[in-house]
Amino acid sequence: MSLYRNFAWFVKGLSEFTKNPFLAASKRFVEKDLEVSVAGRVFMITGANSGIGRATATAIAKRGGTVHMVCRNKDKAEEARADIVKETGNKEVFVHVLDLSETKRVWEFAESFKRKNKTLNVLINNAGVIMSQRETTSEGLERSFSTNVLGVYILTKSLIPLIEKSPDPRVIVVTSGAMLVQKLRIGNLQSDRGRYDGPMVYAQHKRQQVVLTEQWAKAHPTVHFSVMHPGWVDTPTVATAMPDFHRSMKSSLRSPEQGADTVLWLAVSEAAAKNPSGRFYQDRVMVPAHLPLAWTRSSTLEEHKLVALLDDMAKTFQPH
Ligand SMILES: NC(=O)c1ccc[n+]([C@@H]2O[C@H](COP(=O)([O-])OP(=O)(O)OC[C@H]3O[C@@H](n4cnc5c(N)ncnc54)[C@H](OP(=O)(O)O)[C@@H]3O)[C@@H](O)[C@H]2O)c1
Repeated sequence: MSLYRNFAWFVKGLSEFTKNPFLAASKRFVEKDLEVSVAGRVFMITGANSGIGRATATAIAKRGGTVHMVCRNKDKAEEARADIVKETGNKEVFVHVLDLSETKRVWEFAESFKRKNKTLNVLINNAGVIMSQRETTSEGLERSFSTNVLGVYILTKSLIPLIEKSPDPRVIVVTSGAMLVQKLRIGNLQSDRGRYDGPMVYAQHKRQQVVLTEQWAKAHPTVHFSVMHPGWVDTPTVATAMPDFHRSMKSSLRSPEQGADTVLWLAVSEAAAKNPSGRFYQDRVMVPAHLPLAWTRSSTLEEHKLVALLDDMAKTFQPH
């Protein structure tokens, strides 16, 4: 089955995830969807110093939004902030240093953000990592899991009460089309059994993000949730984690701005908010989160179990 899934995914990727399909899709985009001012609206973007996150932060700052950049490297983040302010003329851009793999710190950051800020309209969970080998954090968690799943879970869970209070509240998760090759697996969350295959571990975490978004949408009907695939985009993550893929596909990869287009559309457009909550997007349209005949659908029980397991795990790291 995994051979079929990988093949079907790659064929789909060649025809949908590269630059040309984006250019073709963009012919049906409604330009005025993005011709909006978001002055007075507050956005938080993780991993905003680089690639898709940075392109999203810049586009939102250009439209007048207040941007909170959540980044793990202070120097890189400050440099990106200075560039964004210079390019957009918007000074309402703030840096917060946070490593999402440090679970207790994620709680502390989110709780402190809630104390200091009255408004958060939109949270964009963009930061992500592909590990080449299994690594554990000082808290004993597998690093891809704590960054891509548990950190996202805690940040979102902790901030939802603040987001819910804001007008037109939205949460967006940047997943990956790689999740299409994975069925939800809840029995090996720490990837400590069997051979560690970094890209497949990442793909599983990206599947978990899709399931989580669907579950959040059900649990919090006043917030608009969405999860999206940016396409294959030329960014440091791809160049570092998948050098062969990057080398052979480089001329076909999307720019970070092209990859960020649907994130931006989901974050600022009126059109996006009219769609149902909890759905998976590609190039501004809702698309199925499963490949045909790939047997990747999970049961409601498994999906609830994932949330319950994350909730239990999150609580053990919650500061008292
Ligand atoms: N590029 C693609 O083709 C593609 C395809 C599908 C999905 N995506 C998704 O798009 C998102 C953005 O990635 P990108 O392609 O734009 O790559 P990128 O330019 O390398 O950006 C990744 C960002 O995540 C940050 N990050 C990684 N681990 C972190 C941690 N533990 N704590 C806080 N921040 C952390 C990175 O910080 P540093 O700069 O400090 O490393 C960086 O800012 C990811 O979720 C990725 O999975 C990308």
